[in-house]
Amino acid sequence: MKRQEFINQLMERANGTPCERGEAFAPANIALCKYWGKRNAELNLPVNSSLSISLGSLGTRTVVRYAECADGVFLNGEAAPRAFSARVSAYLDLFRRGRQFFEVRTENTIPTAAGLASSASGFAALVKALDELLGWGFSLCELSMLARVGSGSASRSLFDGFAVWHMGQRADGMDSFAEGFSEDWKELRVGILEVSNAWKKVGSTEGMNRTRETSELFEAWPAQAQCDYDELRTAIAAKDFPMFGKTAENNAMAMHATMMAAWPPLCYWLPQTVSLMQEVWCAREGGLDLYFTMDAGPNLKLLFLEESRAAVKALFPMVQVVEPFA
Ligand code: DP6
Repeated sequence: MKRQEFINQLMERANGTPCERGEAFAPANIALCKYWGKRNAELNLPVNSSLSISLGSLGTRTVVRYAECADGVFLNGEAAPRAFSARVSAYLDLFRRGRQFFEVRTENTIPTAAGLASSASGFAALVKALDELLGWGFSLCELSMLARVGSGSASRSLFDGFAVWHMGQRADGMDSFAEGFSEDWKELRVGILEVSNAWKKVGSTEGMNRTRETSELFEAWPAQAQCDYDELRTAIAAKDFPMFGKTAENNAMAMHATMMAAWPPLCYWLPQTVSLMQEVWCAREGGLDLYFTMDAGPNLKLLFLEESRAAVKALFPMVQVVEPFA
């Protein structure tokens, strides 16, 4: 099935009232069980279910209006880079009626494309804003499928707190959507350690396709991810922090190991990434309950509880601490 057919099928359910503008915010999300590898690249259908935590007020705010004769895409107050605008316009093509154009103004409170999941919050905010402008009146489940087509991880950015993205089984992708779940964890903290906010050379889409096609280790990935997904759900329900942290860190390391075994090799780490990882391991050996996860970029996201905040701050003075359930 083509992307456009999928969208047309969903659009048959639209029944809201259009507005003159649409505005929305969506949080960034950090995957604790990663999405890496697609069973269908056209519809962004994954080989495994994934689980994430949203970053509260860190994310993307987007305003959409109609434009006269061409799309205008603005990022943080300036004309967006060409690749960024092209990706947004190609997505808007899916929804245009005739010669219809849009102005999209988007502000990020996180560095763009540094592995801090800004394409996730970006597509989620865009879809919510379009829902208001074009009057679709969609549910969060339907919006998450639309966001998924823009970028897989965006399906999870429609939700605060923990979210799961069900991989689904259907070929048409109608059962591959995300939802929030009710458990919260007030004491949980995510610490962002920014190593670089430079644009990455190999984006996630290309990275995961290359991994799936060339990495011998990829065969083992879906089973590990399924296991990690189940363990994370158990750890969250039991508020078992060591199990939670260990499973998230192990999942991230397994994803990176799988991509390093691709050809040409994919390594998103910088030398400083590795030294930070070693500092975390050393602190843990010294008794600190501290773990990390990493996406397709060089930055670390620390996982810890409020009781360890002072110790984490002392070790990493530059850490930006997020309270996902504040
Ligand atoms: C490592 O959602 O950016 O952050 O669907 O091709 O746009 P596309 O990929 P994308 O990949 C995110 C990969 C990840 C893991 C995750 O967020 O689950």
